[in-house]
Amino acid sequence: MDSCFRRNDTIVDGCEFCGERVKTEMEVAETIESVRSLVKAARSKGKRVGFVPTMGALHIGHISLIEAAVKECDFVVVSIFVNPTQFGPGEDFEKYPRPLEADLEICKKAGVDVVFAPTPEQMYRAENVTWVNVEKLTETLCGRFRPGHFRGVTTICAKLFNIVSPDVAFFGQKDAQQAVVIKRMVADLNMPLEIVVCPTVRENDGLAVSSRNKYLTKEQKKDATCICKSLQKCREMIEAGTKDSETIIVEMRKILSRAPSVEIEYVSIVDAESLQSLDKIIGKVLAAVAVRIGPARLIDNIVVDTGKQ
Ligand code: PAF
Repeated sequence: MDSCFRRNDTIVDGCEFCGERVKTEMEVAETIESVRSLVKAARSKGKRVGFVPTMGALHIGHISLIEAAVKECDFVVVSIFVNPTQFGPGEDFEKYPRPLEADLEICKKAGVDVVFAPTPEQMYRAENVTWVNVEKLTETLCGRFRPGHFRGVTTICAKLFNIVSPDVAFFGQKDAQQAVVIKRMVADLNMPLEIVVCPTVRENDGLAVSSRNKYLTKEQKKDATCICKSLQKCREMIEAGTKDSETIIVEMRKILSRAPSVEIEYVSIVDAESLQSLDKIIGKVLAAVAVRIGPARLIDNIVVDTGKQ
């Protein structure tokens, strides 16, 4: 790397000597026009554009998505936008954490090329009348408890994909239903990008990393580990040959009910693609849990491929 041209600690794009992949300084784009022109410039150099959409409050789960994007792409855009249309009345839109400066620092360290951090006015007209809605897949699991949530997610993702025009976008398996819904939207609307789903990142005690873990007290966080314990039980029962979903769900609910602060929203076993409930364990199954603990609503899931149809 001696021959690489660096300026003030910033490695300048495209080493003319060694040809190695090198980075430019991170840009922060606040407008649609500016992010579009940065992506256009990268694309004109033949770069593969990766995109990680986020609502900020970045944690190691997001960092794992950014790392995957940096590894697979030549130019990485991260969006930070707390999307109002995916929050229902009484949900945590106002109090959702917005530590922008810390987020920018994380992106810079992770090797992001552009952070797109628009205002709500940039993203939505005063009266938005155009929506993207994926049917069926959004009517189960979280969709039953958060009416309108997925319509907000698919609408903002469609808008972001139109603005950023990435070759590939990265999502986390923790939001399993979101990943399935986004994949289907991209397929149904013939959007020219690939969706990559990265594994759930967990804390040492197994709790899935989430921005909403910040709302929990120490005791509540301890209680929250029952979520992954219930999913672990589900995996063990499937692997031991239990075929009846209800038998597994009963055992999972028992584990969740032992934690005093946990209020179960749903425990479901569904087909991993269609998201329809399964009476019998067959094929690739998604076991998903949603609970409320104090002020937080937490979700987690596992996928078990039984290999049988
Ligand atoms: O997963 C999230 O953080 C959000 O739902 C997303 C995909 C950034 C859309 O606002």
